[in-house]
Amino acid sequence: MIERPKRAVTRFFVPLIDVLILLFCIFLLMPFVATEPKPETEEPKDQVKAAEPELPRDVRELQAELQRDEMRPQWRHFWNVTLDAYGPEWRLPADPISLLRRRCTISQGSIFNLPERTWDAATMFFCAESITERQNEFEAACASFARCVKPGGALIAAFLVRSSGYEVAGRKFPVLGLSAESIESTFTALAVKVKAERIGIVPREIRSGYSGFVLLTGTAA
Ligand SMILES: C[S@@+](CC[C@H](N)C(=O)[O-])C[C@H]1O[C@@H](n2cnc3c(N)ncnc32)[C@H](O)[C@@H]1O
Repeated sequence: MIERPKRAVTRFFVPLIDVLILLFCIFLLMPFVATEPKPETEEPKDQVKAAEPELPRDVRELQAELQRDEMRPQWRHFWNVTLDAYGPEWRLPADPISLLRRRCTISQGSIFNLPERTWDAATMFFCAESITERQNEFEAACASFARCVKPGGALIAAFLVRSSGYEVAGRKFPVLGLSAESIESTFTALAVKVKAERIGIVPREIRSGYSGFVLLTGTAA
């Protein structure tokens, strides 16, 4: 017959050792039964969205311009000239902002990567000569501009004449120094019915290192 230990100390330690052995066994088994904890914020896979990349600043600025109720006074001057030039028979709106909002899609791209033969008309203001000091890069930009329009489409572009560069926010930007004749000859090779209108060209510099403008019009060949 098994007798209960008589000493109080033994009666206390034997069950304690049993409990400790049991805990140790549980500890050894834990890695086999444990599962990975789920992160609390995990979403179903199809709901996980990539963060939208921020739009370039100039795109945001133009979008903001089209969200206005009416055009800023700076544009009013140019629009009045346009209204006068076309006359009432064109029935142009007094303020073109809402029409532009409906018709325009603003996106950023490079003049060197324009899709070919895509649009009915294209305009370019002080771009091809204001991004380089090299004649071959200027010509490549003009060729890309002229090719983005369907044959018979309208090309309208303005250029600085004899510009020596410009500065924005303390940073210098290059400009190719052009003459009205060289602009005309570049476009004669790219389009037909080319007309280069000289605007205010004087022998000296006017301001910011240029001495006038050329407004070039032509038809894509
Ligand atoms: C002198 S600013 C003229 C801006 C405007 N068209 C105007 O008349 O006020 C020259 C513009 O060319 C843009 N530009 C620079 N590299 C370009 C590229 N590869 N393709 C298209 N535009 C470019 C610049 O961001 C700048 O807005």
